[in-house]
Amino acid sequence: MEWYSINTCRVLVVSVVLLSYNMLLISSPPAAAAATTDAQVEAEAEALRNSTWWWYMENTTSHHCTWDGITCNREGHVIQIYFSGHYGPMIELSQMKFSSFPSLLRLNLSHSLIYGRIPDEIGTLTKLTYLRISDCRLDGELPVSLGNLTLLEELDLSGNSLSGVIPSSLGYLKNLIHLDLRYNSLSGAISSSLGNLTNLECLYLHFNRINGSIPSEIGNLKNLVRLSLSYNSLFGVIPSSLGNLTNLECLYLNFNRINGSIPSEIGNLKNLVRLSLSHNSLVGVIPSSLGHLTNLTYFHLINNQIQGPIPLSFGHLTNLVHLYLCYNQMNGSIPPGIRNLKNLIHLRLDHNNLTGVIPSSLGDLINLTEFNICGNQIRGCIPFEIGNLKNMASLDLSNNLINGKIPSQLQNLKSIENLNLSRNKLSGRIPTLSMYRWTSIDLSYNDLEGHIPFELQFEYHPKVFSHNKGLCGEIKGWPHCKRRHKTIVITVIAISTILFLSFAVFGFLLLLQKTRQNQTKTPLKKNEKNGDIFSIWNYDGKIAYEDIIEATEDFDIKYCIGTGGYGSVYKAQLPTGNVVALKKLHGWERDEATYLKSFQNEVQILSKIQHRNIVKLHGYCLHKRCMFLIYKYMERGSLYCVLSNEVEALELDWIKRVNVVKSIVHALCYMHHDSTPPIIHRDISSNNILLDFKLDTFLSDFGTARLLHPDSSNQTLLAGTYGYIAPGKYMPIFL
Ligand SMILES: *[C@@H]1O[C@H](CO)[C@@H](O)[C@H](O)[C@H]1NC(C)=O
Ligand SMILES: *[C@@H]1O[C@H](CO)[C@@H](O)[C@H](O)[C@H]1NC(C)=O
Ligand SMILES: *[C@@H]1O[C@H](CO)[C@@H](O)[C@H](O)[C@H]1NC(C)=O
Ligand SMILES: *[C@@H]1O[C@H](CO)[C@@H](O)[C@H](O)[C@H]1NC(C)=O
Ligand SMILES: *[C@@H]1O[C@H](CO)[C@@H](O)[C@H](O)[C@H]1NC(C)=O
Ligand SMILES: *[C@@H]1O[C@H](CO)[C@@H](O)[C@H](O)[C@H]1NC(C)=O
Ligand SMILES: *[C@@H]1O[C@H](CO)[C@@H](O)[C@H](O)[C@H]1NC(C)=O
Ligand SMILES: *[C@@H]1O[C@H](CO)[C@@H](O)[C@H](O)[C@H]1NC(C)=O
Ligand SMILES: *[C@@H]1O[C@H](CO)[C@@H](O)[C@H](O)[C@H]1NC(C)=O
Ligand SMILES: *[C@@H]1O[C@H](CO)[C@@H](O)[C@H](O)[C@H]1NC(C)=O
Ligand SMILES: *[C@@H]1O[C@H](CO)[C@@H](O)[C@H](O)[C@H]1NC(C)=O
Ligand SMILES: *[C@@H]1O[C@H](CO)[C@@H](O)[C@H](O)[C@H]1NC(C)=O
Repeated sequence: MEWYSINTCRVLVVSVVLLSYNMLLISSPPAAAAATTDAQVEAEAEALRNSTWWWYMENTTSHHCTWDGITCNREGHVIQIYFSGHYGPMIELSQMKFSSFPSLLRLNLSHSLIYGRIPDEIGTLTKLTYLRISDCRLDGELPVSLGNLTLLEELDLSGNSLSGVIPSSLGYLKNLIHLDLRYNSLSGAISSSLGNLTNLECLYLHFNRINGSIPSEIGNLKNLVRLSLSYNSLFGVIPSSLGNLTNLECLYLNFNRINGSIPSEIGNLKNLVRLSLSHNSLVGVIPSSLGHLTNLTYFHLINNQIQGPIPLSFGHLTNLVHLYLCYNQMNGSIPPGIRNLKNLIHLRLDHNNLTGVIPSSLGDLINLTEFNICGNQIRGCIPFEIGNLKNMASLDLSNNLINGKIPSQLQNLKSIENLNLSRNKLSGRIPTLSMYRWTSIDLSYNDLEGHIPFELQFEYHPKVFSHNKGLCGEIKGWPHCKRRHKTIVITVIAISTILFLSFAVFGFLLLLQKTRQNQTKTPLKKNEKNGDIFSIWNYDGKIAYEDIIEATEDFDIKYCIGTGGYGSVYKAQLPTGNVVALKKLHGWERDEATYLKSFQNEVQILSKIQHRNIVKLHGYCLHKRCMFLIYKYMERGSLYCVLSNEVEALELDWIKRVNVVKSIVHALCYMHHDSTPPIIHRDISSNNILLDFKLDTFLSDFGTARLLHPDSSNQTLLAGTYGYIAPGKYMPIFL
């Protein structure tokens, strides 16, 4: 503070000198003008010094025009302040006396440690053409005086915590070209006065809490190129006047509560390249006029209540890359014009009520990497032409009425990562398919028979082949295929049936006797018979409750290998020699609903998914007196443990670390994109990444994970390990 007061003294001395000089020359007008200019220059210098924004400068007596980020004009007036302090103390915006800078043209404070309210005084910068205070820590409301900055061409206050309504005075900023208020907490309705900003080219209001309906005056913004109102709480209808915005290239209205139907005038927006109306409450049919939008590359209409068919006119949308019409109530068949959409990469028509067959011309869409028609009423065969789609990564035809054989051409799908043909009427044998260690496959609930042609090394969960006519193979949990003569087979079957029956009778008698003996033992055993309260899901028939209790000596502390947020982890060697990990809830927490919920959540999620890099759930026990999960045992423990052990951390060299990252990316990619509904883990940390003895990597701990039902809100309560909570700003915006 010492130097500060010295400087103030100097300022005073200079001012006094200037003042006397002024008085001497008062009769000469040109000189007087020069003097007021000097006084003005000094006022600017003083305001800059007083702001303390340049706290890091050792010598503030140097001329302020030479300071970092200050630009002056020939007369020595500050015309630009560019300030970007990434480190150091937080700086309050109102510390700057804005009224001292009547010549300021540009003020850029983006990504700096600026905080506080925007002072009313900002309205005095009437020459300002560029104002950007983005990604700072501003709060409070937008001052009405912003409306005085009538020369402003760009106004960017995005990425702050601004609240309150957007003042209607912004309608006076007639020269505005770019208005960006996204990522704040602004509320209230969009003022119709924004319709006066006829020079506007970009209007970004997404990620706020704006409600009310879209004012039809937006349709006056003839120069608008980009309009994003997504992730707000807008309701009401899409005004048909939007059809006047013929320069529009991007229109994002997704994640609101917009209802009514899609106005056919949208079909006038010939320059539109991206259109997202997803996650609203739109009803009615898709107007066939949308077929005029020949420049359209992204069309997203996920999760609305759209009915009727996919318009035939969609065959003209030859530039489409993404077509997402999933989660609606559309009917009719896939239009034949689909074969014109040669640029399509992602085609999602799932969860509708589509009928008809899969057009064989689909095989012409050589760039297609995702095709999903899950949950419709599609009939007929899988066209063998699908085998031409060399880039196909995710093919989901599940939950339809598809019959016939699986065409052997599917083995040409060399990039396949997710193949789901479950819940159809497919019959015949399974052809050999190209599978990688990360490929997920589901062929359950069909009429398939014969040999399962997949290699054991991929460790397929038997569930993915279940509920078929007769499958066999070298897969855990499945019978080996028998290659004998029919007669021998029949004799064997006959003999084994007789043997089985006699054993069954014998076993039953034995069991009856044993249960009678046991009836007076622990009440838990009693419950064990009531399958619905006590459930142990032992997929390979090798894990039994008694084995677990025996192996851990009823959860003796000496088998405990770790304690986590809501449970302890035990290591148990089963009589079969297999080692498993058991996660057991802490006794004193069992009654707490949240812990029970977290436990149930983990069971629900892990039994839904199976992926090479997601920890395998072998079984669980869910009962008041015993609550544990049975996992594959991971020899190396968590990534956190490995990294904090000097020897092991060295062993995990950079190449192995990259592999760890890749594995987790595979797992996340699977959870977010290939799993239906998508799963959000919400607590990725080095504690929840486990390594086995080969240093293969597995994601674990799904206690806070969440199934993302597309019809639910994307707003969630915070979850997860403190310090690892996922940043909201990186949510996918353009769904
Ligand atoms: C600068 O700070 C000094 C001392 O705090 C004060 O007297 C002076 O009025 C301030 N000047 C401006 C332009 O705010
Ligand atoms: C501060 O800067 C002025 C002008 O550049 C110079 O004359 C003076 O010596 C400097 N003072 C210190 C302490 O560096
Ligand atoms: C404003 O600052 C940001 C961040 O430093 C920079 O990216 C941007 O180009 C600046 N704007 C202008 C017009 O200089
Ligand atoms: C904005 O302009 C209005 C009218 O011209 C004036 O009354 C008001 O004081 C100005 N506000 C600021 C902060 O300059
Ligand atoms: C917008 O324009 C209308 C009509 O031209 C006018 O009545 C209104 O005052 C203007 N509002 C603003 C905020 O400029
Ligand atoms: C819009 O939001 C504001 C502020 O959050 C609230 O007071 C108002 O009731 C909301 N209006 C509607 C129609 O939901
Ligand atoms: C704008 O759209 C509205 C509603 O669709 C229409 O009535 C009006 O004539 C259009 N205005 C212009 C200038 O195109
Ligand atoms: C749209 O929603 C609003 C508010 O929820 C409701 O008042 C209005 O009737 C709805 N309009 C239609 C066409 O469903
Ligand atoms: C479509 O895109 C092309 C190429 O980007 C462009 O030349 C054309 O003006 C756009 N608009 C229409 C209506 O075709
Ligand atoms: C589609 O549904 C509408 C009503 O929702 C019905 O009128 C129409 O006949 C259906 N079309 C087909 C092809 O099923
Ligand atoms: C398919 O993708 C490739 C590479 O992105 C591109 O060069 C080619 O034009 C695309 N093919 C079609 C038919 O669009
Ligand atoms: C789907 O269509 C069938 C007949 O085509 C109809 O019975 C059924 O109600 C429809 N389902 C939905 C959700 O619209």
